[in-house]
Amino acid sequence: MSQANPLQVPNVHQGEPIPDSAREAIEALMQSGDLFRYTAPQDAPVSLLESEFAALLGSKYALAVSSCSAALFLALKALDLPRDARVLIPGFTFAAVPSSVVHADCVPVLCEVGENYRINMADFEARLDEDIAAVIISHMRGHTSDMDAIMALCQARDIPVVEDAAHSLGTTWHGRNIGTLGQIGCFSFQSYKMLNAGEGGILVTDDADIVARAVIMSGAYEHNWQKHKPAPGDNGTELEEAFARWQNLLPLYNLRMSNLSAAVIRPQIPELARRVADGRKNHDYVAARLNAHANFHVPAPLASEERAPDSIQFNLVDMDDAQIEAFAAATAAKGVKVQIFGRSSDNARAFWNWQFLKDLPELPETRAMLMKACDVRLPVRLTQGELDVIADILLSAATETMARVAA
Ligand SMILES: Cc1ncc(COP(=O)(O)O)c(C=O)c1O
Repeated sequence: MSQANPLQVPNVHQGEPIPDSAREAIEALMQSGDLFRYTAPQDAPVSLLESEFAALLGSKYALAVSSCSAALFLALKALDLPRDARVLIPGFTFAAVPSSVVHADCVPVLCEVGENYRINMADFEARLDEDIAAVIISHMRGHTSDMDAIMALCQARDIPVVEDAAHSLGTTWHGRNIGTLGQIGCFSFQSYKMLNAGEGGILVTDDADIVARAVIMSGAYEHNWQKHKPAPGDNGTELEEAFARWQNLLPLYNLRMSNLSAAVIRPQIPELARRVADGRKNHDYVAARLNAHANFHVPAPLASEERAPDSIQFNLVDMDDAQIEAFAAATAAKGVKVQIFGRSSDNARAFWNWQFLKDLPELPETRAMLMKACDVRLPVRLTQGELDVIADILLSAATETMARVAA
């Protein structure tokens, strides 16, 4: 075991450098001042990003916007849900998800999430019959819930599924890209994601009517929608008819992406496969080390899932509240900040902190998981030596904490 030294603890908040090839595109934008996506007659960086991203995922359409939160909001608006429509979401997600539901004038309904961070399917099924108009599946921290069961239950009831794939770019389910299983998939380009633009988001769909509505509401005023390309091989009639159907009928929320963000993202796309492979290798290496210790459990992926992690989650086993608090303090003292979702104050992933919701429910199973589930970032650039520093600190903190108790 290597000797843990706080000075050698890697900075887990630092991402990979943006590829050098971004500089030329950014310099050209600086020279021309052409930062607005709809100024150029065609092939603006945002349009090119949309084509490239749709091709990458195997979707017909993509719409780049200012954040994944904006994509989720537009997804709900594009589904044309009536005011106060009930939208089923997991009780373990980021506060942006219930917020997007509230923003779309809908009502979030929360369901239980189990100790493997995935939706409790019995609870999901029971709540699906409580007058639910749409579902958002958050693949929280890239953990995929049982999408076969979810899609079958929702299709049987004709309920649309929006996938919140903020953390799931590169994850597959039966070999299919996460984000392309539901009617709409939403992704984030915020800095802690596989493709980093600081801020940004994108939605994908195969539905011309949905994308036309989302494009217009994202801020394609007048006839700017003409700069959105049909899917390759399409003659464009279906998309054009959809745009014509919605012309002047929808409010503009102006959630567009800037060309600068697209210029930062596009050169990272060729890096994605390598980042996914490195992220998975790093995660599985640390997971194996943690799982060899009696006080840690890293839940296994589901059989149909190939993950693309850039962080690790694990549950503390056979530790009481005092021991969990002591473990958290010990890791922090050694230089690794472990976030225990339910124990850091005002954590945005703990449902009881979403006090902007009326009638916040109690979710005992989700709460129990959040009180012992730990979160540590593992940026894909980390070396095995750096992973060992992190793993050594986690393991030694647990061993020392439990030895103190035994003494
Ligand atoms: C699960 C989940 N959904 C949605 C979002 C929102 O993403 P953005 O910051 O791009 O709005 C986040 C942010 O990290 C997230 O963790």
